[in-house]
Amino acid sequence: MRRKPFISGNWKMFKTVDEAVETAKSLVSVVSGQNARDIMIAPPYTDLFPVYQEIKNTNVALGGQNLHFEKQGAFTGEISADMLLSCGCKYVIIGHSERRQFFGETDETVNRRISMALESGLIPVVCIGENESEREEGKTNSILDKQMKNGLKDIVVKNGQELIIAYEPVWAIGTGKTATPEIAEESHAFIRETIQGVFGEEFAQSTRIIYGGSVKPGNTAELMAMPDIDGALVGGASLEAQSFAEIVNYTEKS
Ligand code: PGA
Repeated sequence: MRRKPFISGNWKMFKTVDEAVETAKSLVSVVSGQNARDIMIAPPYTDLFPVYQEIKNTNVALGGQNLHFEKQGAFTGEISADMLLSCGCKYVIIGHSERRQFFGETDETVNRRISMALESGLIPVVCIGENESEREEGKTNSILDKQMKNGLKDIVVKNGQELIIAYEPVWAIGTGKTATPEIAEESHAFIRETIQGVFGEEFAQSTRIIYGGSVKPGNTAELMAMPDIDGALVGGASLEAQSFAEIVNYTEKS
């Protein structure tokens, strides 16, 4: 089955409103002809609404970098699904390794956030991945299995709803060390099997599993040539419109 490539940019804690609007404007102009791929950018919260003004009615969609699992309440510093939706978000990144590493995110909180995203009509982009020592100790698959099973526990995906999984080996994020296409493919295939176990064959075949970790214009095509790699979650190289556009517009290997 052919899955439409999903190329997404995570701007993390970079860009003021002016900078974000400027980048979004340039990006829209260079990717406007690209309809063979789904494109998303996830700017910081303060940039969401102004960036949306630039990208609405274009082929670039908006995503949040996180969301809280309650609808609203006394949760200082958090953001709700409705707030993201009201800024024009269609997607939301959940469980990024930086959230897990620095902000105490666990599989259980990831699970609750996924549930809230789906309930609210946001498409979750759920990040999983092993760290360097886990890989060296041969624990990659057991870590992915645990993150998937606990993260997706009791999650119900209704007809027509989508869920995207981002495989991001922690040792490859922001380090310049990309997983080789073969290493990434092995994990992607394993993740697809796990999805099949949880949600069944049809859902597993239609789910996009994207790769993240030092994706650049120069390595996108070879990663995307792998059968189970359906897109990219790009950090550093998504901050410049030109380099992100080159990733979006990668040339398919025949
Ligand atoms: P990177 O980040 O592309 O800078 O490695 C990827 C990510 O954190 O999603």
